[in-house]
Amino acid sequence: MKRVTTYGTFDLLHYGHINLLRRTKKYGDYLIVALSIDEFNNKKGKKSYFDYQKRKALLEAIRYVDLVIPENNWKQKINDMHKYYINTFAMGGDWKGKFDFLKSEGVDVVYLSRTPEISTSKIKKDLKLFKQ
Ligand code: CTP
Repeated sequence: MKRVTTYGTFDLLHYGHINLLRRTKKYGDYLIVALSIDEFNNKKGKKSYFDYQKRKALLEAIRYVDLVIPENNWKQKINDMHKYYINTFAMGGDWKGKFDFLKSEGVDVVYLSRTPEISTSKIKKDLKLFKQ
């Protein structure tokens, strides 16, 4: 069984996230999503609208996702690759090159093109301008 993983915040889940998860799942049979915990988001200067438990429940309801684990910090990736026997690590193209160091752990690293014109930040910005 091939095991694939991706990392992220996945706040206000949108079709760009779904595309990323669907395309990531094609690299294997079992998809593990490492989901940033709220404290880690704060450290990154991000404040999510949905808290960790809500974001986790949404991801768990997606057919491509088999397991959601917490992403607590930047440093856990190497350990995770071995702990979860990961074959492929996938991220959106905005991270291109950033995680190539995982190749030396025996993991295939792929960067998938982002879905154009959608992001959590854009949704938040657009909703501020949205008249009900
Ligand atoms: N992603 C994508 N296409 C988009 C938006 C996100 O492929 N249009 C991917 C990212 O590249 C990442 C994953 O989805 O691999 C999770 O991204 P995240 O940062 O949680 O979502 P964004 O919508 O990019 O959020 P933000 O605007 O806060 O950066």
